[in-house]
Amino acid sequence: MRTVDVIDKKRRGLALSKQELQALMDGYLRGDVPDYQMSAFLMAVVWRGMNTEEMADFTQLMASSGDELDLRGIPGIKVDKHSTGGVGDKTTLILGPLLASIGVPVAKMSGRGLGHTGGTIDKLESIPGFQTSLTTQAFVDQVKQVGVAVAGQSGDLAPADKRIYALRDVTATVESIPLIASSIMSKKLASGANAIVLDVKVGSGAFMKTEADARRLARTMVGIGNHAGRQTVAVLSSMEEPLGRAIGNALEVKEAIATLMHRGPDDLTEVCLTLGAEMAVLAGVAKSPDEARGMLIQALDDGSALAKFKQFVAAQGGDASIVDEPDKLPKAPVVKQLRATKGGYVSSLEALPFGEAAMRLGAGRATKEDVINPAVGVVVQVRVGQRVETGDVLVEVHADGESAADACLVELADAVVVSEAPVERPKLILGYVR
Ligand code: URA
Repeated sequence: MRTVDVIDKKRRGLALSKQELQALMDGYLRGDVPDYQMSAFLMAVVWRGMNTEEMADFTQLMASSGDELDLRGIPGIKVDKHSTGGVGDKTTLILGPLLASIGVPVAKMSGRGLGHTGGTIDKLESIPGFQTSLTTQAFVDQVKQVGVAVAGQSGDLAPADKRIYALRDVTATVESIPLIASSIMSKKLASGANAIVLDVKVGSGAFMKTEADARRLARTMVGIGNHAGRQTVAVLSSMEEPLGRAIGNALEVKEAIATLMHRGPDDLTEVCLTLGAEMAVLAGVAKSPDEARGMLIQALDDGSALAKFKQFVAAQGGDASIVDEPDKLPKAPVVKQLRATKGGYVSSLEALPFGEAAMRLGAGRATKEDVINPAVGVVVQVRVGQRVETGDVLVEVHADGESAADACLVELADAVVVSEAPVERPKLILGYVR
């Protein structure tokens, strides 16, 4: 079969068979199909889409293009969790130990941050000594012994996705729901979990700006996961405001610790309980989300989630004394405040400017090669709907120098909008796809 005929068939909007997709992928990985033909195929998919069967086949081909983690040696149903990315999203730091503390094994491969969204691996590496590079054996052994391990993605996990994503990035073919869904799910399938909970973010700080697009992406990913024999559930959650208050690596670790003590921000706690309840049900340790939620709250209140966090940090070489002595975490030398210039109600707190401001302070990367500073970031002290008075602190900026702090304050001057009329708190959990 000629590659040009496969491209032509997709260009005409026809569904491709598994054999046709396999020939294309095999040829690409061997080097017989050049980048320009794969690019033409990807553009045809952008315009013509793919049906569930095609997406499931394409995803499976990318998943099996490299290493596939074998988690069968770990007893129990392994549930993975994936967030489509947002500002201040530190849920993995909380959900890993929290779920492990109620008996759900968590074997999590995570990524580094790029752009305004942070990466779990960068956050964990702000803990002195914490190692994220684990051999497969060490990773599996740790989940068996501690109940949770979080490691950086191995170089060989879904390498076809890595090559195809790099092509999409330069051929204007990133924004396609079939391609985004198959890209994300290929890495989830290769990570070996039996079941998957997806946190699909919606709003200014998210990849999906509208609820309709997010729901479409969620349905598509759930369809691919279930087709591949992995029970998959998606939660749609708002990313209009940053999640929690802290944005920046060590600052987020501190907030995660507070949340594990059940003293964290309400929105962050709520997203963790919602996702955690879905994970616990899929893992079979609870019969309903309500029962699971009760178990999770109990683990936050009785100290078992926090104890599991300490055990997890120590197992990966980190200094667990940061839990009791948070001053041992990296600290920025300059902290400045943005204050309210009038009284009223916070009516808007768009996530994106905060994510970008934290990135420019050095908390994130503009390019893959950038080196991050674990200490810097911003802490948003207010929420939409909150009453503020003139002079109240709206945002705290943690910077590595006076000029960086001042530039950040200027950048964020209009990021918190205060209105005279009371404003309702927006909805946080927007729906489920099961
Ligand atoms: N994240 C991914 O992993 N792939 C995409 O295509 C988009 C976001």
